[in-house]
Amino acid sequence: MADKIHVTASEDYDVIIGSGILKDTGSIVRDVLPKATKILIVSDTNVAPLYMDKVKTSIEEAGISAFEFVFEAGERSKKIETVAGMWDLMAKEGFTRTDAVAALGGGVAGDMGGFAAATFLRGIKVIQIPTSLLAMVDSSIGGKTGIDLPVAKNQVGAFHQPAAVIEDTDCLKTLSPDLFTEGMGEVIKYAFIMDLPLYDLLKKIADEGKAEELSADTDNLTSVIKACVADKAYVIANDEFDTGLRQILNFGHTVGHVIEARSDFSLAHGVCVAKGMGIVTDAAVKAGTCDIDEASKMKDLIERYGLPSSDDISAEDAAEGAMNDKKKRGDTLSLIVVNEIGKASIVKMTSEEYLAFLKKGLAR
Ligand code: GLY
Repeated sequence: MADKIHVTASEDYDVIIGSGILKDTGSIVRDVLPKATKILIVSDTNVAPLYMDKVKTSIEEAGISAFEFVFEAGERSKKIETVAGMWDLMAKEGFTRTDAVAALGGGVAGDMGGFAAATFLRGIKVIQIPTSLLAMVDSSIGGKTGIDLPVAKNQVGAFHQPAAVIEDTDCLKTLSPDLFTEGMGEVIKYAFIMDLPLYDLLKKIADEGKAEELSADTDNLTSVIKACVADKAYVIANDEFDTGLRQILNFGHTVGHVIEARSDFSLAHGVCVAKGMGIVTDAAVKAGTCDIDEASKMKDLIERYGLPSSDDISAEDAAEGAMNDKKKRGDTLSLIVVNEIGKASIVKMTSEEYLAFLKKGLAR
């Protein structure tokens, strides 16, 4: 039995969540895209061997021709040359405006498949089929698509909402423990910024000694994923184009992105977000806005799910990197601070104020 969470946006769609639903891809595509005759399935060298055949067979059984585009796994592939390969293949195979892309995999496949769809023939539909926890709870929902530039991640892109998001929780059974843990960074983020009941559920799971086995605990895992998807759907419904509320999803990201880039992307995104959440929370305690007990609860939860809540980056390096961030507007940036679990604030800071704030969180 699959659950559906509706996303209200410029084009509405459902996120369909269930165990074993990859085999239903074809019928879902047929329902949401009745005119499609061709689908380009975009995936990477890690995910394609696991799920490409199942998805392709399901699409073909629905009477739609399926084509494969498999790129080398990793953030380094997230560049215009890879997307150009998708455009070329679709052009060669005669794709029209009623055809579509299916992005099968983690955040890189979703972002690039979505961007290829947003730009080919000035926009065709995309179906997101996330197979990592991080992609299921965050990147596959909300229509952010794009590629990296050598100078920074996600610098070129488009908002392009999917026609459907298909989340088969069985895919998480084959996910490496490291990839699962990094996804928990984004899961915990929702608890902190807007979802006290999710915090309570995550704490209960950890108190029962079940945090380490969450990836195999279908019931708890499904509840956690559904909570995150509902949270993201709420945010998108209220701020699709990232001009206000959606910024709260960046909790931990402003610092986290800099740590990620400085590691040359050897540190996973969700791990860096966890570090960023811990650093900003330490700074909020020292700035007197967050109670120390509340901060301890937050850092404790991060660590109980196997994630770090600090880093040895200097405040100067963290602040300088943030000044290149695309979310900076003029000389101010919007920093997300959580002073009470379940409630995020957007605080505008100049670069000097941001450096002074970070010095509190990164005091040696
Ligand atoms: N991943 C953050 C957002 O979708 O806005």
